[in-house]
Amino acid sequence: SGNQTFTIIKPVAVQKNYIGPILHMITEAGFRIKAMKFTYLTKIQAMEFYSVHAGKYFFEDLTSFMSSGPIVAAILEKENAVEDYRHLIGATDPSKAEEGTIRKLYAESMSHNAVHGSDSDENAIVESDFFFSKTERY
Ligand code: CMP
Repeated sequence: SGNQTFTIIKPVAVQKNYIGPILHMITEAGFRIKAMKFTYLTKIQAMEFYSVHAGKYFFEDLTSFMSSGPIVAAILEKENAVEDYRHLIGATDPSKAEEGTIRKLYAESMSHNAVHGSDSDENAIVESDFFFSKTERY
């Protein structure tokens, strides 16, 4: 499988000053940062980014939340990146996340779950391209 994944540190985690601790866990786990930006999503951009979830009962809450404040977007590189990163962040629902995972430590609920991580190599590329141009990655 591929060697890159894509992540977002979500609005509540940024607001709570968890950027540093979360990036520390990411780099300690052996991921290299290939691209990173402090930015935000408009509501329309959040709807486009999460279009795979359009029509689901949580789509409105998800896209309102994701456009509610600044985020950190990053491309991460490591062998087996997508699977290893999903292991590092833990279950989508933080109450089910394993001890020592990012979501167990820094998430408060299914919606406010601290970070996003790509679920496949294909989506890692689509999501990275959504945020980063060629000259914004090393
Ligand atoms: P994320 O990895 O960013 O991808 C979609 C997000 O939708 C997910 O994390 C959750 O934060 C959010 N979400 C809210 N409710 C649900 C749900 N019932 N099932 C899956 N994702 C949900």
